Amino acid sequence: MADIEKKPVAILISGRGSNMMSLVEAADAEDYPARVVAVISNRPQAPGLAWASNRGIETIALDHKSFASRQAFDAALHDTIVGTQAKIVACAGFMRLMTPQLVEKWHNRMINIHPSLLPSFKGLDTHQRVIAAGVRITGCTVHVVRAQMDNGPILGQAAVPVADRDTPESLGRRVLTAEHRLYPQILAHFAADNYDISQDTATLKVDLPADKMLFSPLA
Ligand code: GRF
Repeated sequence: MADIEKKPVAILISGRGSNMMSLVEAADAEDYPARVVAVISNRPQAPGLAWASNRGIETIALDHKSFASRQAFDAALHDTIVGTQAKIVACAGFMRLMTPQLVEKWHNRMINIHPSLLPSFKGLDTHQRVIAAGVRITGCTVHVVRAQMDNGPILGQAAVPVADRDTPESLGRRVLTAEHRLYPQILAHFAADNYDISQDTATLKVDLPADKMLFSPLA
């Protein structure tokens, strides 16, 4: 098999890091077009850091509390990412608002996963608000990061049914299962330069079979 180019990716986390784990595991495949060069957390105690370190991945803790301002933290974060040689940044449960300056430095090179069907239900406590709104379908979205929170060209989505009597926890678990399937697929296309990206939208340049465009996590 011809060697494929594996784009270096840095993953940003703040906590348990289950999405990061799904990306790391997917990237183990020989034909995956990205490799994880570092996992960076703003919380030194993030459980995901220990997991990644055990896998032999470079881990970096950059405690936001030891910086005087958001600008100072973001400047250090940028320098840290550059130091890892990453060409792509994948946010995976990274719970820090970023300054527009940082976002601009990674324009069209930074992606994020959010546990709703954007542009609906941006922000925190997503599953609780989804249940309160009574919607029957929710899901998850991988998007390019723009300066406004949970905004940016949508790269891919997965739909997840909301069951009667779901709690935020039960719904969150179902959505998370979909996140773990969606994010590795989308990162693969992103790393392979398979998207045309404008300010607000992204278009896949490759044709996908219908069953790869949308999937149900219950299937
Ligand atoms: C995920 O639901 C993700 O969509 C959101 O934060 C959660 C992180 O979970 N941004 P994990 O750390 O990847 O397990």
